[in-house]
Amino acid sequence: MTWIEAVVHARTLATPDIAVLDLARVDGTEFPSYTAGSHVDVHLGSGLVRQYSLCGPPGPGPYRLAVLNVANSRGGSRAMHALALGDRVRISVPRNHFPLVDARSHVLIAGGIGIAPLLAMLTHLEQTGTDYVLHYSTRTRSRAAFLDDLTANPRVRFHFDDEDPQLLLDVTRDLGDPRPDTAVYVCGPDGFMDYVVGKAEGLGWPRTALHTERFGTDLTAATASGEAGFTVRLASTGAEYLVADDQSVLDVLLDNGVDAPYSCQQGICGECVVRVLAGDPDHRDDVLTDAEHADGLFTTCSSRSHTPVLEVDL
Ligand code: FES
Repeated sequence: MTWIEAVVHARTLATPDIAVLDLARVDGTEFPSYTAGSHVDVHLGSGLVRQYSLCGPPGPGPYRLAVLNVANSRGGSRAMHALALGDRVRISVPRNHFPLVDARSHVLIAGGIGIAPLLAMLTHLEQTGTDYVLHYSTRTRSRAAFLDDLTANPRVRFHFDDEDPQLLLDVTRDLGDPRPDTAVYVCGPDGFMDYVVGKAEGLGWPRTALHTERFGTDLTAATASGEAGFTVRLASTGAEYLVADDQSVLDVLLDNGVDAPYSCQQGICGECVVRVLAGDPDHRDDVLTDAEHADGLFTTCSSRSHTPVLEVDL
């Protein structure tokens, strides 16, 4: 992966636990331009790589990131919050797995920090005069980032858990029945997204109209469900390695000196994808499509195996 040297040139707190960081290129040149919904990988040292959506106006930058300080963080958000003005970080070029699609109307539904990519989308839709509405749900008003900017926007509907119960997000009322030429985008914590998408599907919205982005798949939680370990076999050498409950295939490959590619280690970037040649994969990524799974592609960082042995094309 090509990394870009960046420097923190502005840092503010959007809420007590959300830091907004503006990054500029160390050499003073412009960053590559990006589209709404893009994210960058941020290299935080010691192999720690995390993904953050770009929430500023789409274009060549500066790149703006909004980072929630997660209480049970595995280090990423803590390291990001520790960044001060002038600190340097390496970032990837932006990638977009969550783009705006061609549609006459767009419904954006944000839960908490999920506002970040949707804010860039909102900016683009405003700039292009495209019809949209943003539903923004947070636990309290004080935990809603960018509140001042959004309050003046008549297309934004706020839903605060601790205020008027009539104004809580109600997918049946706020999204309503499926409409032609309308795209829905959902971003937020897993539970929030499962709730919104489940309700939308129950209302009859086709999966093709629902666009989601999940960040921060917790590999620890995914492997703590008590399933047995399995063996990964390398097709090139026949070498076999045991993948224990608390390890990923990627961990085991790297521990054994295998030159396996990777970046996010969270099943969202696609850098670690290999082809499975034998066995029945248990796909747990958020980057590959069903067709790619069916084609044998597999993320070593997050996915596991239903069969005792999984042979991969390495
Ligand atoms: S390293 Fe990013 S999906 Fe596996």
